[in-house]
Amino acid sequence: MTTGSEWQARVGRAWADEWRRTDRSFAGLTPHLLSAIADEPGERVLDLGCGAGELSLAVAAMRPGARVVGVDVSGDLIAAARARSVGGAVFHHADAGAFVDPDGQPDLLVSRHGVMFFADPPAVFRHLAAMAAPAARMVFSCFRSPRENLWARVFADLFPALEPEPVIRFPAGPFAFADPAHVECCLSGWRDATFTPVDFQYVAGGGDDPVADAIGFFSRIGPVAARLAALDNPARAAMQAAMAGVLERHLQGGVVAFPAAAWIVRATSDRSDR
Ligand SMILES: C[S@@+](CC[C@H](N)C(=O)[O-])C[C@H]1O[C@@H](n2cnc3c(N)ncnc32)[C@H](O)[C@@H]1O
Repeated sequence: MTTGSEWQARVGRAWADEWRRTDRSFAGLTPHLLSAIADEPGERVLDLGCGAGELSLAVAAMRPGARVVGVDVSGDLIAAARARSVGGAVFHHADAGAFVDPDGQPDLLVSRHGVMFFADPPAVFRHLAAMAAPAARMVFSCFRSPRENLWARVFADLFPALEPEPVIRFPAGPFAFADPAHVECCLSGWRDATFTPVDFQYVAGGGDDPVADAIGFFSRIGPVAARLAALDNPARAAMQAAMAGVLERHLQGGVVAFPAAAWIVRATSDRSDR
């Protein structure tokens, strides 16, 4: 489970420091999402849980003339997004469940893995449908099950307490939206949801020493990070050495990478003009 307050503190700070490596981890997913977004109309785009802003900036680049807004609950990530931005998108530090764009109603809502962290998804989606334009479209990605996402359980033997999060029901976290039936229940105010499976390589390490790079990445990002941080220095070094042994087995073609599996979800706001 990853809560909003964790995103506003430790987890958000780690993602803000590590945005180049988190963007790299999603690099195989982003073209699938952009291609789904390209199919949709919309001149006022809202990126939910935009993080360091890669999706917002990519949508702005591919849709010149559109107004693109990114919103995120982490101030550190919004600062990172603004710092890297070369224009084209504006970023607001706000909870998606309360955000109302003062400059107009969005007609296309997008997100790369930002929506499964909402504490009360039906309430947030209801709010989004009410604040968006009538019949607004939404396109987002989210992880499928832990079983299909080796990156999340590759260290399960080293950290016996590292249970993949349950696929179902409300705990906010990376796998909270793995079950389409559950997502449909969460999409209050939205209709005609479709789920397209996409597979990609989750790159955790690269460069001169991909294994060391992957250890650095997993020590900051993902399910192992908090557990490593709780260890004393010798215990952490011993665990990282054991992790290196595991990661060596996933080094191929100069990168440490794992199979990853996501849904691309599309839906239409229930709100009509009437
Ligand atoms: C896995 S990260 C994805 C970040 C970004 N979309 C990307 O692709 O790099 C999830 C993001 O959702 C944000 N988030 C979680 N709950 C939120 C909420 N209620 N409102 C706005 N952002 C939220 C987090 O702060 C974090 O940036």
